[in-house]
Amino acid sequence: MTRILGIESSCDETAAAVVADGREILSSVVASQIDIHRKYGGVVPELASREHLRQIVPVVREALAQAGMQLADVDAIGVTQGPGLVGALLVGITYGKTLAMALGKPLVAVNHLAGHVHAVFLEAHRAGREAKLPAVCLIVSGGHTVLYQVKAAEAGGLLSYRKIGQTRDDAAGEAYDKVAKLLGLGYPGGPILDRLAVVANGAPAPVKFGPTKTRGNPLDFSFSGLKTAVLYHVREHPEYAEEIRTREEALQRGERKFEELQPLCSPQTLALVREFQNAVVRDLVERTVMAAEELGVESVLVSGGVAANSQLRATFEERGKSKGLEVFFPSRALSTDNAAMIAAAAYEKFRAGVFGDASLNADPGLVLA
Ligand code: KG4
Ligand code: ZN
Repeated sequence: MTRILGIESSCDETAAAVVADGREILSSVVASQIDIHRKYGGVVPELASREHLRQIVPVVREALAQAGMQLADVDAIGVTQGPGLVGALLVGITYGKTLAMALGKPLVAVNHLAGHVHAVFLEAHRAGREAKLPAVCLIVSGGHTVLYQVKAAEAGGLLSYRKIGQTRDDAAGEAYDKVAKLLGLGYPGGPILDRLAVVANGAPAPVKFGPTKTRGNPLDFSFSGLKTAVLYHVREHPEYAEEIRTREEALQRGERKFEELQPLCSPQTLALVREFQNAVVRDLVERTVMAAEELGVESVLVSGGVAANSQLRATFEERGKSKGLEVFFPSRALSTDNAAMIAAAAYEKFRAGVFGDASLNADPGLVLA
């Protein structure tokens, strides 16, 4: 059995995990920095690096303790090389490198996006399912919205990726976060908008958002127009102003839970949130299904923070059934950033004998394909 310690620090989660043979999660610890970045309405890179520095040692220690292991029991160390914030990445890389050298264990550099793909495989394994490759994979988070074709590894090699579409502007999660901010619904925006959309029920739509048109590659995404349309709609309708102010005051008092904010939302606001979410989900699902049909694949993998969205999951399931596609998601905990997915991705490279060395450096713009 190969037990890999995974370390993730690319954005605002300090995470460590131990995964056996790339499939079985022995432990997974995630220290979120949301409380620190919240008052700025987004991740502040300098604060993120500092917080990673504070958290990295206890988080790794906790991951080992939960797996019932000592550092000496680890077979290799997998660490996120990029993409992400350079200062944040450097904390995990420096720590991982130092551990590997001090312990005399192999070091594996992991692409964060490959990690998100492996999050899907981890969950599939847990559920006793197997994703047939080639597949289409949608990675959809606060920093990324990108479509890949994923092909099986040749003997002893690595999975291969081909980028087939990406966002031209904002990531889908970023659109969620910006819309939540302008509506006075706090940060991050995804989880609360997800729940508010559900309770909108049949409230009449105050505005309709048509399908997003992108010139050129039909598999490319664009979310900044939708975000701007929400902004203009809110500006043109002064009746939103007062409830937004009321919610901002509630947020100031620390009342940011769904139960606290929902009563401060008019039916019109709830319906606006529903229409926004309908537009995002429709766009993500339609382009992904289009890609799967074009490439003639049978499986669709969906990963990243926005993959936690309940409507996205339900819509993919539904469309998948009607199109004969099998759709795979990570569990909600494995959808957002974590280190189990990094350890799982590291195992693939470990087996192929692809190792990093002391020269390993952060690569904030690292691409998967
Ligand atoms: O993967 P992740 O943890 O970090 C990045 O790599 O960006 O994703 C965080 C993003 C945030 O934008 C957050 O608003 C969004 O994922 N998110 C959601 C949901 N949960 C998290 N978006 C929509 N619905 C959700 N339930
Ligand atoms: Zn991520």
